[in-house]
Amino acid sequence: MTSLRLQVNGQPVVTDIQPNTLLLDLLRGPLGLTGTHCGCDTGQCGACTVLLDDMAVKSCTLLALQAQDRHVATVEGLADATGKRHPLQEAFMACHGLQCGFCTPGILMAACGLLKSVAQPSEAQIVDALEGNLCRCTGYVNIVTAVQQAALAMAPSGGSR
Ligand code: FES
Ligand code: FES
Repeated sequence: MTSLRLQVNGQPVVTDIQPNTLLLDLLRGPLGLTGTHCGCDTGQCGACTVLLDDMAVKSCTLLALQAQDRHVATVEGLADATGKRHPLQEAFMACHGLQCGFCTPGILMAACGLLKSVAQPSEAQIVDALEGNLCRCTGYVNIVTAVQQAALAMAPSGGSR
């Protein structure tokens, strides 16, 4: 076993893990954060996307130890402390950006990572940022529209955070 220390959704986590534990398995297992989904376990679907120091990563392709002393954000941390949904969550609801919802946590986190680096992305930038996230039931038009709407809502004049 190896000692691991990191922050998850702003909370310190200290635990002992096997050195070959995947970040996805740490999140879904010991940490109980099952909003991060496992769709393929081979880096292809994006359902397991989380933020590692604000960068979108596929948690099935990372060892948990690679998050040592870093900050991981999952879909559970998107809403604020009062439970108020993130503008991305509001926009996905308003724009019908999901159906079954299996892909949605990963897409939300990929979009969140994009908006942290590009406040008002172009359609092409959104498509590019989401190219590693597969959705098999919604289609991508409403998803892209939702990200655009969230970006507008998060702009200083948009009246949200
Ligand atoms: S579960 Fe990680 S990319 Fe599919
Ligand atoms: S909403 Fe069903 S896979 Fe995307």
